[in-house]
Amino acid sequence: MVKRVNLGVFLPVINDGWIISKTSPKFMPSFALNRDICESARRIGFSYVFAMGKWRGFGGEIDFWKYQLESMTLMTGLAAVVPDLHMIASISPALIHPAVFAKMAATMDDVAGGRIGINIVSAGNRDEYAQMGLFPENFEQYRYDYTEEWLTIVKRLWSEDSVTFDGTYFTLDDCQSFPHPRRGGLPVVCATSSERGFAFIAAHCTDGFFGGTTVEAKKARSLRIKEVAAERGRDVRTHTLISLVLGDTDEEAQRIHRHYLDGADQEAIANIYNLRAREKTEASLAILEERKQEDARLFYGGLPVIGGPETVAALIEELAVDGGLDGIMFIFPDFLIGLARFNDLVMPLLRQRGFDFGTPADLGLPG
Ligand SMILES: Cc1cc2nc3c(=O)[nH]c(=O)nc-3n(C[C@H](O)[C@H](O)[C@H](O)COP(=O)(O)O)c2cc1C
Repeated sequence: MVKRVNLGVFLPVINDGWIISKTSPKFMPSFALNRDICESARRIGFSYVFAMGKWRGFGGEIDFWKYQLESMTLMTGLAAVVPDLHMIASISPALIHPAVFAKMAATMDDVAGGRIGINIVSAGNRDEYAQMGLFPENFEQYRYDYTEEWLTIVKRLWSEDSVTFDGTYFTLDDCQSFPHPRRGGLPVVCATSSERGFAFIAAHCTDGFFGGTTVEAKKARSLRIKEVAAERGRDVRTHTLISLVLGDTDEEAQRIHRHYLDGADQEAIANIYNLRAREKTEASLAILEERKQEDARLFYGGLPVIGGPETVAALIEELAVDGGLDGIMFIFPDFLIGLARFNDLVMPLLRQRGFDFGTPADLGLPG
């Protein structure tokens, strides 16, 4: 039986990637770096790249994520110079009117020849929006309702000639937006760990993304997202992200990991966790609970997988087969070196295990 997993890269739109350490690789986010990463990913058979939307860093000795490229504009530029790869750009409805966004997305769709999808960020991190005065009181309680109204308008503008709308948050009067995207819409995905988010995916998205700091949690989330979608008669794909520390052997990977741990930026880590604790949303508290382990705290947002090629290939198989995951998106300490080593060391083992890697065409038709 052929097994299939789509491979993706979580692009470093931020300085220094996802390891909160003084001893991990250091780099600035740039168009040139991200273009080279896309080229490499494409060459070795990855299907997609994903750029998150970030608006504020976390300080600490390494100034963690002080620098952030904007996701939509970066992806438009990348789509113009990198063929074939599917691209997912992120947008926060809290920051932009739906009619402005609908036209920007249709323009991106034209530049990318239909290869762009949109990740909807429902504003989980208060400080990023509060610094602009764009996190209204109690927004965490109604952010998904707001997002649903926003997305309903966007999808209508993508497909209808004129939209008149009188909602809770927006009013439109004979609002027009041409040209429409070429397939009548763009694929929409969402990254979430909450039941409310899963319901949003089931109702509106082609694909669901999620984090999680144990393999068991990831498998359970994938199956749960598919279950919630199935209850609505829909089929959605699931993807997770992994921070990969790949060694020639398990021992070497552990050595590299200890080196990063020795340089852990405790100040930045404390800043991140204090912010989460202050938000006190159901989702942020669940994340805090999951990340009590030291290993997980060193890596922002993703399960660290620390191992040699066999360990990594076995884990990917477990996620794809037992968890029904359709895609895995990778974070590397150094992306260009990491991709090349993944190609040399892990992809042959996955092929031996009967995997093929999907193509961009497997991803994202408008839902
Ligand atoms: C793969 C992935 C991508 C994400 N992308 C973003 C992003 O672009 N911007 C952001 O602020 N949060 C991002 N996050 C974090 C959450 O999606 C975001 O905080 C969301 O609002 C949390 O929703 P929830 O409370 O329903 O879990 C991402 C998480 C994952 C796992």
